[in-house]
Amino acid sequence: MTSRKPLISGNWKMNLNHFEAIQLIQKLSYALTKDDIEAVDVSVHPPFTDLRSVQTVLQADKIPIALGAQNCHWEAKGAFTGEIAPAMLSKLSVQYVITGHSERRQLFGETNEDVNRKVKAIVKAEMTPIMACGETLEQREAGEVEDHIVTQLREGLAGVKADDVSNMVIAYEPIWAIGTGATATPEDAQEVCALVRATVLDLYNKPTADAVRIQYGGSVKPGTAPEILTQPDIDGALIGGAALSAEDFAHCIQYRLR
Ligand code: PGA
Repeated sequence: MTSRKPLISGNWKMNLNHFEAIQLIQKLSYALTKDDIEAVDVSVHPPFTDLRSVQTVLQADKIPIALGAQNCHWEAKGAFTGEIAPAMLSKLSVQYVITGHSERRQLFGETNEDVNRKVKAIVKAEMTPIMACGETLEQREAGEVEDHIVTQLREGLAGVKADDVSNMVIAYEPIWAIGTGATATPEDAQEVCALVRATVLDLYNKPTADAVRIQYGGSVKPGTAPEILTQPDIDGALIGGAALSAEDFAHCIQYRLR
C-alpha cells in the first residue's frame, strides 16, 4: 500500500479581512511544531482578498503551510467580471484550489461540468485541485449516496489523466454535516471514502487509486478529528468552522497526539 501523507486544509469561507487573516496565520504558525508539519501537510484557504497578505507572511517567516484558494474560473483570462483565473492564483504561490464545494454547487449553481472544467484548468496552471463531493440528507435517506458520489466523480474527473488524478485531492463532504455540528460517524465517513477510492480504481487503475488523497469534511473539530483521521481511506480533512480558531485547527492537525 502506498503511504499517503495526510493533508489538513482550512477553508475560511467568506470570513476574515486581510488584517485578521495575518493574525490567524501568525497564531497558527506559533501553535504548530516542526513535527506537526513533518507528519501532516497543511493548507489554508483564505478569501481572495487575503491571499497576497497571507502569502507575504508565509514567505517572510518561512512558515511551511501551503496557500490555497476556495475557487477559480476555468478560463485563462477575458471578460468574466468578478472571476479569478487559475494563473493569477499560481502567481501568488497558491498550491491547492478547492473546487465543487457544496456551497458553490448549491448557492451558485455550479454543475459537475463546471467542476470538471475547473479541475482541468487548475491542473493546467500547475496547482492541485481539491475536488469536493457529497450528498444531501434527502439523498442519504433515499439510499442514493453511491449513485450520487459516483456520478459526481465520473463527471468531475472526465478527461482528467491518471497521473493528474494521482496528485489530486478529493474531499468527501456530506452536505448535512457541513457547519451543522453533525459529523458523520467515523464508520460512515470511511465507508464513503472507500467508495471514492473504489470509484477512482474503476475509472483509472490501482496506482492512481492508491495515490489519490481523500479528505473528509463536515464539522470536524479537535474532539472528532482523531477517530475520523485514523480511518484507512481518510487521508486528511477539509475543515471550515474549526479552522477559524488557530488553537482548534492546530489541535485537529495534532490529532495523532490526542
Ligand atoms: P465545517 O465546514 O467544518 O464548518 O462543517 C467544512 C467545509 O465546508 O469545508
